[in-house]
Amino acid sequence: MSDKHILIIGSGSVGKRHARNLAALGCRVSCMDPRADRREEMKSEVALVGSFASEADAFEAARYDGVVIGSPPHVHVAQTIQALEAGCPVLLEKPVCPDLQGALRLKDAADRSNVPLLMGYTWRWWPPLADVRRRLAENAIGKIVHVQFHMSAHLADWHPWERYQDFFMAQREQGGGALLDESHWIDLMLWLFGMPKSVSGRIDKISSLEIVSDDNVDLIFSYENGPRVTMHLDLYGRPHEKFIRFVGEGGTLFWSADPNQLSIGRSATSDWDRTGYSCERNDMFVAVAREFLSVLDGAPVTTCRLEDGVRVLRVVEAAREASRESRTIGIQG
Ligand SMILES: NC(=O)c1ccc[n+]([C@@H]2O[C@H](COP(=O)([O-])OP(=O)(O)OC[C@H]3O[C@@H](n4cnc5c(N)ncnc54)[C@H](O)[C@@H]3O)[C@@H](O)[C@H]2O)c1
Repeated sequence: MSDKHILIIGSGSVGKRHARNLAALGCRVSCMDPRADRREEMKSEVALVGSFASEADAFEAARYDGVVIGSPPHVHVAQTIQALEAGCPVLLEKPVCPDLQGALRLKDAADRSNVPLLMGYTWRWWPPLADVRRRLAENAIGKIVHVQFHMSAHLADWHPWERYQDFFMAQREQGGGALLDESHWIDLMLWLFGMPKSVSGRIDKISSLEIVSDDNVDLIFSYENGPRVTMHLDLYGRPHEKFIRFVGEGGTLFWSADPNQLSIGRSATSDWDRTGYSCERNDMFVAVAREFLSVLDGAPVTTCRLEDGVRVLRVVEAAREASRESRTIGIQG
């Protein structure tokens, strides 16, 4: 058990989840959110040391062992820099921020501060995906020729307690939209295969969702010595689906979130060797919280670093340019 005092900035869905998990691991928790109703909700879920409407009040009131940033992406950079300048290690929820320029500014500030930062691309902590990575490294299906990432989830189902039109996801300026918010899948592509050499595709708003951010992403990535990758992300699909299909020269590996399983097939018939998992979504957030607490005790950041988040934004910017200019865009390594 830990007795650390953690400040949670942003007391919405993910902020409360981190607060519950960190409190269950023994931490003392304070929260900050400009919305009084969100601070009240937080208070009804965990015993709070402090509750603040602004970062200035929160940092004036106490010295924290660590800070979790769970606010909308457009305020991530300023809030993270403030925490680092106060000497507090940070768990930063994805994405780093809406654009590469902001991410590079934060990277500079983080390097200068020498205070550790753990990046929250949480699927890296999902045991079935760690198995996928291990099996690919073991060459389980031979040379990978093609990979298909697919994520489809209707935005109205994400936060049933609020109108989706009022959620930051509906607003491009706040860092909403399928490409940025579901950049989890870009992060996983980089985690599995490294940086692609180019991207083409389209990022649009094509459904009747009442949002001013993108709701549909179709991208094609090419690698110098790696697979062709196609990626579809949308905010209008039901039932929700998240899967990755890897086709190698020796068979196919298929991961899905629901059912929670990994299948490998090597014959022409649908003769799949299936592995089911019992892990639940919150488990990956608990694993992130445990790594964050070990970082606070002096361990190095291992699973996901700020530079990983910056690399995702390099790909995001290239994808935006590819869509805007309707051409293939090279990506810097
Ligand atoms: N790793 C994951 O799987 C995962 C899951 C969910 C959300 N997230 C990320 O967490 C962040 C928040 O998402 P969410 O679903 O919790 O959204 P949310 O809307 O439920 O919560 C965001 C909260 O931030 C508050 N807020 C607005 N402006 C703020 C400010 N200036 N300072 C502090 N708080 C402010 C809002 O009032 C709200 O309570 C996003 O970056 C999102 O991508 C990550």
